[in-house]
Amino acid sequence: MSKANNPVTIQTLRKMKQAGERFAVLTAYDAGFAALIEEAGVEVLLVGDSLGMVIQGQQTTVPVSVDNMVYHTRCVSRGAQRALVMADMPFMSFPVPERALDNAARLMQEGGAHMVKLEGGGHVLEVIYHLARQGIPICGHLGLQPQSVHKLGGYRVQGRDPDAAEAMLADAIAMQEAGADIVLMECVPAELAARITERLSVPTIGIGAGAQCDGQVLVLYDMLGITPGQRPRFARDFMADAGGDIRAAVRAYVEAVKSGAFPDAEHTLA
Ligand code: KIV
Repeated sequence: MSKANNPVTIQTLRKMKQAGERFAVLTAYDAGFAALIEEAGVEVLLVGDSLGMVIQGQQTTVPVSVDNMVYHTRCVSRGAQRALVMADMPFMSFPVPERALDNAARLMQEGGAHMVKLEGGGHVLEVIYHLARQGIPICGHLGLQPQSVHKLGGYRVQGRDPDAAEAMLADAIAMQEAGADIVLMECVPAELAARITERLSVPTIGIGAGAQCDGQVLVLYDMLGITPGQRPRFARDFMADAGGDIRAAVRAYVEAVKSGAFPDAEHTLA
């Protein structure tokens, strides 16, 4: 349960979509940042398995375990008062519906998550259907799926050719019909993400997917400009203009998302 009187819920996000209001999402991995980010006006805190890279120093998200996710989700839940806490289901935690249910239950009961997110297209529909029937709120993650990086051979834009674009649209609709409450799209051409957003009644969240998604997410460390190595092309360093003030940087991100100023053309993939 959220500790605030007016918690952000799935219904809040649906109403925002219907009203054409954008919402802001950031990743969070600990209680301190969860509180700071939420205070700046972010509606959804995503405990992303990106923690494998930015917290643990791994090369990919593949080594992240369910125990890791439960621990960080619990930290974030303790720091959050009002925001909706979404937790990633890590690699191999949802190969079949029964395993998915056990692991999603851990993220919610032990971690305090309000919603779980899982990567995949058509092959995860059965899992989504099963979780949704048990009352578990779900975000489906389409487009670039970092847990499949070894199969994809790198981090690339997805859905560029017409067949892949149609397949992604079909997957998004099927996810919604199976019971997904949100669809997140990563590294998807802006035009395709806009089409999918218009077609779905559930809210969409974009990362490297253009400005027409209902919400935007960035990895916290990317938007603070502290990610080791190269920042993804679609991520903007909001700290650069904030004079080193983390609170001001996060507030600037929220404002830019809500006004539609982020992502601009420079941070949009075609
Ligand atoms: O793990 C994560 O942080 C994510 C975002 C990149 C969407 O899934």
